[in-house]
Amino acid sequence: MNILIASSEAAPLAKTGGLADVCGALPKALRALGHEATLILPAYRSTKKFPTEPTGVEIKVCIGGKEVRGTYLKCSVPEIAAPVYLVEHNMYYDRAGLYNENNVDYGDNCERFVFFAYAVLEAVRLLNLKVDILHLNDWQTGLVAALQAIFYRDYPGYEKIATLFTIHNIAYQGSFPAEAMSLTGLHWKYFNWLQMECCDQLNLLKTGLVFSDGITTVSPSYAEEITQSPGGCGLEGVLHNRKDVLWGIANGIDVDVWNSEKDAFLPSHFSLATLEEGKRACKTALQEEMGLPVCPETPLVGLVGRLTEQKGFDLAIELAYRKMAEGANMQWIFLGTGDALLERKLKELAQKYPNNVAASIQYSNELAHRIIAGCDIFLMPSRFEPCGLTQLYSYQYGTVPVVHATGGLIDTVCDLSDETIANHTATGIRFNNADMEGITWGLNRALDVYANQQEVWRQMQKTGMQLDVSWAQSAEKYVEIYKRIQRKFPRGN
Ligand code: ADP
Ligand code: GLC
Repeated sequence: MNILIASSEAAPLAKTGGLADVCGALPKALRALGHEATLILPAYRSTKKFPTEPTGVEIKVCIGGKEVRGTYLKCSVPEIAAPVYLVEHNMYYDRAGLYNENNVDYGDNCERFVFFAYAVLEAVRLLNLKVDILHLNDWQTGLVAALQAIFYRDYPGYEKIATLFTIHNIAYQGSFPAEAMSLTGLHWKYFNWLQMECCDQLNLLKTGLVFSDGITTVSPSYAEEITQSPGGCGLEGVLHNRKDVLWGIANGIDVDVWNSEKDAFLPSHFSLATLEEGKRACKTALQEEMGLPVCPETPLVGLVGRLTEQKGFDLAIELAYRKMAEGANMQWIFLGTGDALLERKLKELAQKYPNNVAASIQYSNELAHRIIAGCDIFLMPSRFEPCGLTQLYSYQYGTVPVVHATGGLIDTVCDLSDETIANHTATGIRFNNADMEGITWGLNRALDVYANQQEVWRQMQKTGMQLDVSWAQSAEKYVEIYKRIQRKFPRGN
């Protein structure tokens, strides 16, 4: 099958979160299964450091009455191992951020992604791409589904293209004032509560959900959660109506990049057989790097993520204060950027307890690898989590995830219990409520097992390391869905 994946992010070209990891790794996994996968994304400033060649092909689109021109670049990235096209329009995309700067969204985000949506569809014709499935991701590509269904499907070469829309996070919907409808080039009749409008605004995520041939989200539990309130963030009704074409497929990870035996960013490498020594070496190097006392026996808790309401860092900060007040012998390392208040709170916490807490307020992929590999416990108090990747990365390094039981964290973390100890399936600890009681219970349980049941701890580490969290299985599931929605015959036949 020929699959064109359209996304606003793909690692290592452009990344703000897990969407990039998924779109960077899925093409390679699909190719390994014998399918032709191609990726298309905007040519951001961050993509400029990768080698590109011009295609010489220009695109012209009319947006809100003005003609907008751009070009396509071809880019080769060994990690992606699939053809990548970049849509170049420097005024739109050559900026410091992908969607915002200093926590303020760009004012022309709607226009930027309307242009990208047209560029994705025009690429099929202008670059002569063979496409059976157009795989769309998140609100930035929602309009593509509508344009294909309303305009393009009647043109030669487009009749058989089916669209799959993947929801990575329903909390981000691409909502814009109603006037933005005129940028889309679509008739105002589509601006109604059953199609593109939501709460008097143009909603590009809803547009994708309504007009695509199939919908997936990034875990089975999240697929359930988003058909109800509050999980659906107002779009539960839309999803409920499309339940027959909604599926949940848990993300995989790129095991070439997140790999304790060859991770380029680690001070030493280890396998299952050398877990104890290897982990100790990574842990002590990390303590040193973060300016914490080097104590191999002290439990080390790590958190890495976007500092937003979703990720529950506020709960972890409060818990760290309480633990320090109790005089607990433990260490914490935080890595994240985002909300200014959380950034400030993290700095204050680290300043107050320099021997127990280190906080790095930056985006650093290398440090993320070293923290995930060097910690004993990886804490994820997410209020909601469509899939989550960092718990899967933790498994690769014998780091035990302690997570709020929500979304993909339910599907990917097997909770410690008498039964899961006995049958060797436990991989972490889940707590039921994203509040102080829940997180305290979860972390205390982990600290207790770490200190007093070392055999069980070792077993959890090893079970996690042996899990197959690669893309292989998930990519097969995507192929099954692609086949289900594939259009065998043009419309009308
Ligand atoms: P989300 O997509 O909601 O942010 P995921 O767990 O799916 O959550 O993916 C987050 C990705 O972003 C992971 O690869 C994680 O390592 C990375 N990440 C998040 N914050 C940072 C940071 N400050 N520095 C480096 N990597 C980060
Ligand atoms: C989103 C979600 C995260 C998921 C990622 C990749 O940003 O918040 O849970 O892992 O997308 O699908």
